[in-house]
Amino acid sequence: MAMYKHTPLIFELESKSKAGQYIRPNDVPSPNFYEWFGKDYRSEAPAIPDVDEISVVRHYTNLSNKNYHVEIGTYPLGSCTMKYNPKVNEDLAGLPGFAATHPLQPDETVQGNLELLYNLEQQLNDVTGMDAFTFQPAAGAHGELTGLLLIKAYHEDRGDDKRTVMIIPDAAHGTNPATAAMVGYTVREVKSSPDGMVDLAELEKALGDDVAGLMLTNPNTLGIYEKNIEKITSMVHDAGGLCYYDGANINAVLMHARPGDMGFDCVHLNVHKSFSTPHGGGGPGAGPVGCKSHLEPYLPRPVVRKEEDKFVLDYDRPKTFGKVRSFIGSFSVLVKTYAYILRNGEKGLYEVAEGAVANSTYLRERLKGAYRVPFDTPTMHEFVMTDEWQEKESGVTTLDIAKRLIDFGFHPPTIYFPLVVSGAMMLEPTETETWRDLDQLADAFLKIAKEAKEDPQLLKDAPHDTPISRPDETRAAREPILAG
Ligand SMILES: Cc1ncc(COP(=O)(O)O)c(C=O)c1O
Repeated sequence: MAMYKHTPLIFELESKSKAGQYIRPNDVPSPNFYEWFGKDYRSEAPAIPDVDEISVVRHYTNLSNKNYHVEIGTYPLGSCTMKYNPKVNEDLAGLPGFAATHPLQPDETVQGNLELLYNLEQQLNDVTGMDAFTFQPAAGAHGELTGLLLIKAYHEDRGDDKRTVMIIPDAAHGTNPATAAMVGYTVREVKSSPDGMVDLAELEKALGDDVAGLMLTNPNTLGIYEKNIEKITSMVHDAGGLCYYDGANINAVLMHARPGDMGFDCVHLNVHKSFSTPHGGGGPGAGPVGCKSHLEPYLPRPVVRKEEDKFVLDYDRPKTFGKVRSFIGSFSVLVKTYAYILRNGEKGLYEVAEGAVANSTYLRERLKGAYRVPFDTPTMHEFVMTDEWQEKESGVTTLDIAKRLIDFGFHPPTIYFPLVVSGAMMLEPTETETWRDLDQLADAFLKIAKEAKEDPQLLKDAPHDTPISRPDETRAAREPILAG
């Protein structure tokens, strides 16, 4: 198949051929840049390959064909929310008034952009129940860092320097403990109860006057809504800690429940998952962080303020803990966020959550007879099932099932996460999947469960139709061979 033929590096495509080159050499004399910029002007051309247009187009099209993406088919990667996002938002973000402005332009020349940020802040406050936002963080994990730095600044400002511990449930996303450690906190893990929620007795034991706060995502990574959420946040507050809401799963509760009302003090949103902008491939993303008014003085600056009928960037925030990124953050991603929120409106966002939960629940109901679902508790936008029955019966594991799914044309779900469930397969179909796509995915999983009984070796050798079948995944990540 053409898509699997050898793809060289773009550097290997350099040729002296002028085929397909339509941009003619400049016949207007160049200014003497050296005179203008002196020693700052580079003396040698940059080492970028000189490749004709058709080769560049084919090169990147071939590369993209080797990739599986949400525009090819269902991508049920739990926790990572690979949903289809409207193309019109890309067009809007590309409008010259947004894309061709520079962050150093005077405020009066970018009034529209500032107004957009001002309005977006109000909207995100409404969605989350917070009082203020910073747009600087570039992704969810970066938002976590920002949120914990806020919490740290708050305690330090009050002279409360004994708080060195961050409480994190054992079902948490891996970025939570990693972020807490980066900020210098010691992580204290809290075990889940048999119904997949935070165990209140365990939480009680973990609390003390050394606790700076708690990080929690709700619904959690098992897709389960913490029914005791208000109790949890008030227990942490009573111990003098603050509560951080990891908003990566907010798509499950949009306009139904707000972290601010649950008792959280600050929150990040993965707007590149929940509010348009394709997620993955390293960005660009955005992870705005919102907080209640008691944390607002510590937020990064500048802040967009409205002065009469003008919008200005205000740097007056003397207690800020500093910046986490240059200027105001990933502006084009924020344009898409704004467009997505305006287009959906309150009712549309409400339906996004309903659709996410309905699709996930439908898939769970179709699969629960063939794969073990470890918790009876109802789940929301995602759910977890395991390989326990297949393993016992024929030695087929989660990895084999995931690999076999590739032969059916689907991206595998998240596997072996969350760590609290052995052999976990975590599925999040998202609200943008049609019932036809969900049925095809469910049919593939059911067929694989049957194959596991009848011909386990078929699964052990999968995938059968890809250029590489089972790479050493650690080496493939650490020593990638990028051409071939
Ligand atoms: C629950 C949860 N928290 C945090 C993150 C980190 O977000 P990001 O990938 O944008 O850094 C993710 C990402 O998948 C997540 O699912």
